[in-house]
Amino acid sequence: MHKPQSELAVPTSVLFVCLGNICRSPTAEGVFRHRLQQAGLADQVRVDSAGTGAWHVGKVPDERAQDAAATRGYDLSPLRARQVCSHDFEDFDLILAMDQSNLQDLQSLCPVEYQHKIRLLLDYADEAAEREVPDPYYGDGDGFQRVLDLVENASDGLLSALRG
Ligand code: 4NP
Repeated sequence: MHKPQSELAVPTSVLFVCLGNICRSPTAEGVFRHRLQQAGLADQVRVDSAGTGAWHVGKVPDERAQDAAATRGYDLSPLRARQVCSHDFEDFDLILAMDQSNLQDLQSLCPVEYQHKIRLLLDYADEAAEREVPDPYYGDGDGFQRVLDLVENASDGLLSALRG
């Protein structure tokens, strides 16, 4: 029996991770939530984001990230930063790091039985040459649009992968 296009075989959960959880990973959360809503899958996939660092816990996303996201129709204002915790490795099916440094930090925190859940977000992007979402925090405003370009690309690939 064929499943309708808007139904996934298994409920899935995805955690996006960067360093501060105020620029890249909340952008990925906002974009991917939007993609899921458009696909009618929002109630089947749990989405969250977190940072490996604790400096910004409880804060809204960086204003530059919110402004850049708003230019493309994404509202990041309800999101609040949190730090990755040990439960996340058990709770989420897929844990997606923005860059190699985030990936290594996650791998060093993660119990061996859950290591297979950790990947780079851009493994799902079709620009094979680029593997990392550059940290825009200390750069000029353009970095936030670049983050959106990469995250949108990977979100499309991730949605296709979840659909199988
Ligand atoms: P994010 O960007 O990891 O994409 O949220 C950063 C945010 C804050 C800092 C570094 C990166 N910081 O050093 O405070």
